Amino acid sequence: MLSPMTPLPTQRPRRLRRTPGLRALTRETRLSPEQFIFPMFVHEGQSDSEISTMPGVLRHSIPSAVEKARETQGLDIPAVILFGIPDVKDEVGTQAYADEGVVQRATRAIKEALPDLVVIADTCLCEYTSHGHCGHLHEVSGQWTVDNDPTLELLAQTAVSQARAGADIIAPSAMMDGQVAAIRAALDGAGFAHIPVMSYAVKYASAYYGPFREAAGSAPSKGDRASYQMDPAGGYREALREARLDVEQGADYLMVKPTLAYLDVMRTVRDAFDLPMIAYNVSGEYSLIKAAAQLGYIDERRTVLETLTGMVRAGADAIITYHALDAARWLRES
Ligand code: PBG
Ligand code: ZN
Repeated sequence: MLSPMTPLPTQRPRRLRRTPGLRALTRETRLSPEQFIFPMFVHEGQSDSEISTMPGVLRHSIPSAVEKARETQGLDIPAVILFGIPDVKDEVGTQAYADEGVVQRATRAIKEALPDLVVIADTCLCEYTSHGHCGHLHEVSGQWTVDNDPTLELLAQTAVSQARAGADIIAPSAMMDGQVAAIRAALDGAGFAHIPVMSYAVKYASAYYGPFREAAGSAPSKGDRASYQMDPAGGYREALREARLDVEQGADYLMVKPTLAYLDVMRTVRDAFDLPMIAYNVSGEYSLIKAAAQLGYIDERRTVLETLTGMVRAGADAIITYHALDAARWLRES
């Protein structure tokens, strides 16, 4: 029983939540398929293959990638980002910058069939190197390191060959110092001044990439990526510095990756710069939800939409997400 002395509330926020219509009117964060970028793995095989660690995601043959891209566009999702899995890997990742490389061929096929779909090329070497590192491996007296400056040349070559194949955006993910400047200069010199660079500016050395590396066979054969990707325990100063350096080098978009453990970093970086912010909802984040949903522990649809909404609230203008097609369908139904 309320005591007769208890004052009744004069402020009642619940008034604005009473019905779905009232809630829709004052919603501050909106989610739409136009904010999604769908990541696709393309391999040289003739058929698709399943990825055991990522239920519902496939390694596509090129014709199947074109069909999946068509389905993506049909759901009003404006962009795909391509990751290549070559048949042959070598020390210097030759297939990353080969004109007949798998991403170059897939890009040409998709752009020919779907000229209005935005094709983003992930620009890195780890899927193409035999050692699985994102750059040139260099050994000095028994100690090896990923050599920064020779890698810039390979990344620049990769970017130009991707642009020549028709990629609309170049997205370097190697975390080499100076990579945006090297790529910008190479694109400009090759007649691609109009092609933007989407920089994986703030990219952490994360355990959440595990399923992706299984998918792409790109786990480093020795060591890890901690000497080039960022320390998860680093703070806002380091994140802001990485972002600022990429802005100075001519980046057109900034990215924070992964998202869920770094939403605070995304908000901080978003507020400090006026470039569009891309959130990469990475493979491990996807697989956590898929696994829990398969076990019946959570409601997949509600969890995915809530998670993506949180990323937009934290400052994402667009989200790279393996949930893109499902989420677009759910948004269409609701
Ligand atoms: C390549 C690259 C990776 C991802 C995107 N680009 C793997 C890595 O850095 O090891 C991870 C994406 C994901 O986990 O979904 N450098
Ligand atoms: Zn890489």
